[in-house]
Formats: sequence, structure tokens, C-alpha cells
Amino acid sequence: MKKFVSAPLPFQGQKRRFIRQIEEMAKQQKKGAVFVDLFGGSGLVSHTIKRARPDCRVVYNDYDHYSERLEHIGRTNEMLASLRPLVATVPHKMRIDEPVRSQVVEEVKRWHESGYVDWFSISSNLHFTMNYSHNYEEFSKQTLYNRVRQDDYNADGYLEGVEVVSMDYRRLFDQFRLVPDVVFILDPPYLSTDCGTYKSDNYWRLSDYLDVLKCLQRTRFVYFTSSKSTIVELADWMGRNPAVGNPFEGARVVRHHVSGQALNYDDIMLVKAA
Ligand SMILES: C[S@@+](CC[C@H](N)C(=O)[O-])C[C@H]1O[C@@H](n2cnc3c(N)ncnc32)[C@H](O)[C@@H]1O
Repeated sequence: MKKFVSAPLPFQGQKRRFIRQIEEMAKQQKKGAVFVDLFGGSGLVSHTIKRARPDCRVVYNDYDHYSERLEHIGRTNEMLASLRPLVATVPHKMRIDEPVRSQVVEEVKRWHESGYVDWFSISSNLHFTMNYSHNYEEFSKQTLYNRVRQDDYNADGYLEGVEVVSMDYRRLFDQFRLVPDVVFILDPPYLSTDCGTYKSDNYWRLSDYLDVLKCLQRTRFVYFTSSKSTIVELADWMGRNPAVGNPFEGARVVRHHVSGQALNYDDIMLVKAA
């Protein structure tokens, strides 16, 4: 099985910096272990585990339908091949100005009208870093840059032997939580980071992040987070102060909406003074 040290198609938040530690963790698990990648994203963690432990069952939760993008990799390569001559005169990483810009937009439109377009991959070839279009309308309004790669994408064998499912992580957790020797991999969208490139356009609130912690009780797990998230600090505090419970229970809530230029939130007063 070929080793991928990064996802074959662009994906924000893939765990490529942890490949070695993921391999080590997988190799330490007993024979018959089952790995369930609840927030599979690009599948890179599932791929790494399967490669390290081909004897084990690995379940990849493809919530974003990344494998659909992989299925269309040939078409994406053809599309990029048709764009390369158009941008040949534009230096790498530089802005694509008229008349080339219109030619590129016209060519992308042609592909859009004739079938599937992997907007994430196309965006990472033609937009400024970390900028993504989700459809043709968004794409046609963006400033374009020549970041078109010179070689084809290749995903041969990437998900070989991995079981692909696609569902809410809670449902998948319920299906596997009683399975002997199961190891859950949890890499939820990070608190305080942009989730705009994920399928889940529902905004993740603090309580959603806290809900994920329920999957860590009495299970074997690998949990990813970042220093931008305060969730581990919060869990640590709760662990040291277990008697606090919910101090706001029974309090009266008064809200005042604040709006204005770049302002949109509620000021809240909680009263428990009777
Ligand atoms: C940080 S990424 C995971 C990256 C992955 N570990 C990798 O290496 O590519 C978090 C993923 O969770 C997905 N997600 C969001 N809500 C979800 C839900 N309710 N159930 C399952 N996955 C969800 C996001 O769409 C995103 O793909």
C-alpha cells in the first residue's frame, strides 16, 4: 500500500503533522482492534492507520463526501490540464488579469455545465491561499491567481481496505461504542476556527464541542485539538471543580440585542437574587 503523507486532494485541517504519532499509536493496539475515525475529513488518519495495521478494521466517516472528490480525480486532472495553457503567461502565484481571467472563467464554466467540478481543488489552484469557492457563482466573482499545479493529482490505493461511511458522528459512535477493542479517533472542527470549507455549514457552538467529550467517557480514544481551542483547559477546570454543577440553573435571563457596524450579539444578564 502506497504511503500518503498528505491527503491526495486539498483539504483544510488534515492531520499531516501527526502521521508518525498516528502510526505509533496504531501499531501499539492489540490484534483485532477496530479503529473508528468519527470526523474523517480527508481520510488521511484512516489511511495512515490502515497502512500501519492492515490486519485491523478501519472505519472512515466521510461526512464531507471527500471520496466523491476522489472518484472524480481524473476529471479534475483533465480540467487543470485544459487550464494550464490559458495561464501559461501568468507567473506562478501572481494575479490573473484580463483578458486571461475571462478565458479561465469561461473554461471553468464549460466544465461546470458539462458535469462535476471539485470546487475545493479548483479553488486551491486558482484562488489566494485559504480562499475557497463552493460553486460557479462564487468562483466567477473571485480574484484569480495562478496557483495551477504542474502535475496530476494521484490517489491510487489511498482508501484501499478502509470502510467508508457517511453520517453524523453521534450515530456512528452509537454503532461502535460497545464493540470490543474499539479505538475512536476524534478530530472535530476546532473551536474558534473557520469551518467554512467543511460540509457542515451549521455553526458549531460551544455545547456542540462539549457534546463530543461524551464520546471520551470510558472509551479508548485519540482526540485532536489546537491551542486556539480552550476545550482542554475547560475540561481541566471542570475536573478540578466537579461540585460547581450549573451555577445558572434557575436564573432569570434578560437579553439586549446589540447591533451596529460589525456588531451583532446579545448582552445578557442572569439574575438569581430572589
Ligand atoms: C478537523 S476536520 C477532520 C480532519 C481529518 N482528521 C483529516 O485528517 O483530514 C473535522 C471534520 O469533521 C466534519 N464534521 C462536522 N460536523 C460533523 C458531524 N456532525 N459528524 C461527523 N463529522 C462532522 C467536518 O466536516 C470536517 O470534515
